[in-house]
Amino acid sequence: MMDKGTLVLFGAKGNLARVKLIPGLFHLDLCDKLPPDMKILSVGRQEVNADAWLDEIQDMLKKKFKGKYSKTVFDRFIKRNLYHCNSPDDPAAFKKFAARLSNENEFTKNIAFFLSVRPSDFALIVDQLAEHELLNESKGGYRRVLIEKPFGTDLKTAIELQTSIEKHLKESQIYRIDHYLGKSALQNILITRFANSIFEPIWNSHNIDHIQITNHEQLGVGERTTFYDATGALRDMVQSHLLQMLALITMEKPKSFNPDDIREEKIKVLESIKKIPLNNMDDHVFRAQYKRGEINGERVPGYLEELEKDGLGNSSFTETYAAIKLFIDNERWKDVPIYLRTAKRLHEAGTYISIKFKNKNTLLENANANWLVISIQPIESTHFEIQTKIPGLNDFDFRTVNLECLNRIEGDESIDAYETLMLDLMNGNQSRFLHINEVKAQWKLIDQIIDYWSENKSPLVEYIAGSSDPTESKRIFERDDQFWRKSIHE
Ligand SMILES: NC(=O)c1ccc[n+]([C@@H]2O[C@H](COP(=O)([O-])OP(=O)(O)OC[C@H]3O[C@@H](n4cnc5c(N)ncnc54)[C@H](OP(=O)(O)O)[C@@H]3O)[C@@H](O)[C@H]2O)c1
Repeated sequence: MMDKGTLVLFGAKGNLARVKLIPGLFHLDLCDKLPPDMKILSVGRQEVNADAWLDEIQDMLKKKFKGKYSKTVFDRFIKRNLYHCNSPDDPAAFKKFAARLSNENEFTKNIAFFLSVRPSDFALIVDQLAEHELLNESKGGYRRVLIEKPFGTDLKTAIELQTSIEKHLKESQIYRIDHYLGKSALQNILITRFANSIFEPIWNSHNIDHIQITNHEQLGVGERTTFYDATGALRDMVQSHLLQMLALITMEKPKSFNPDDIREEKIKVLESIKKIPLNNMDDHVFRAQYKRGEINGERVPGYLEELEKDGLGNSSFTETYAAIKLFIDNERWKDVPIYLRTAKRLHEAGTYISIKFKNKNTLLENANANWLVISIQPIESTHFEIQTKIPGLNDFDFRTVNLECLNRIEGDESIDAYETLMLDLMNGNQSRFLHINEVKAQWKLIDQIIDYWSENKSPLVEYIAGSSDPTESKRIFERDDQFWRKSIHE
């Protein structure tokens, strides 16, 4: 179990804290993962009486957990919680805040700050914490800062944020979140690759035809129109989650599973991704937008209709579908295309990595290629498609069968990604957080596509909500025999 410490939660009254963080901490307590004397200090701009805050948390948890907990743990959790009113832009308030946190009768020297606030407040809060000596580790105890997503909106703003916070923090104190890394299914990619000796010899360009990394959603933009229209699928999903999956599936074997060794290999591979040739962008990148259609038998509006409903006009170049092709500049991945695609309002929801093996050395010309598919969500599973003989008199009639292995089975511990990451933060484990060099490498790649798309004002391809990948997206394939997998099974 971790050393005792305090988790300071900025933005505790926000959506993320209510939906994920506070319930997540309670769930960790139910699983006996929190040290007995760990405290949770919620910080918000509003003046809230200490008892009123505890009442608010109790209501939140009662609604979410519907009585499925022991009263002893519930009471223990409530006792951990405290509230402090502090506005990010009020230096006088930080002075009071520092005085309270420095009271050793109330708090230990170990403090982790979780900044679940607007991105424009990240640097401001770090400045104020530093100004009041709250980030100084020289007097003993750790001082860590978790920065929510997004870390910048392009390379320039990411560097600006980094320049600002590194005045006060060492890299070892900064925890940049990509919550996908907290998913057990992503950790499983490393186990699949490096705990099974059969994969390493075939994990290369001699044997692999191409890789597809997919994240599809049936949901539309919902209530988040303003955020989404300023962000788009490329920034929201590809820049972070899909490139992190790419790193895990293509990195070299780390020296060990130590956090620094894992991050070192991820950085290397992300920095080895080839720049997309500017004179050939349309062969590498594709975007589209959904129009009205049907999902699971229900009629759903198009993207522009959703914008219009929220008073955001009826025209937009923001992509709700993005597909890109990348190559890695090293011997292992020479000439192996890696396709990344993400979309809203597609025919089904699923996040999975599909690896197509080369169809060589088979005696049967028409044998299908082998595929290995690692599914992240909604199910956590690994699938391997192989050819087997159809029982009967015809010696060489065969078919493709799917060897399926469920990576999560009934009774397995279920810890949400945010819960894992909060434990990592308190335990000082950075392996599931982004190093600044990963963030930079990711933005460098994405920036060139953003620039290209912002200059190109030809009408966007549209796809019907509930359909599968737009036909035009196939233009990024290297060869005619490559195709998008429709799901983990086909
Ligand atoms: N929600 C998610 O699923 C999600 C997913 C990915 C990333 N994130 C990131 O996580 C962070 C928090 O997300 P969230 O959804 O919880 O955000 P949120 O509900 O909009 O706001 C979080 C906090 O920011 C402060 N805030 C909001 N509007 C403000 C305003 N106009 N002026 C000053 N302060 C304001 C509030 O602090 P007070 O409590 O002090 O009023 C609020 O509690 C953001 O950086 C977001 O990008 C969230």
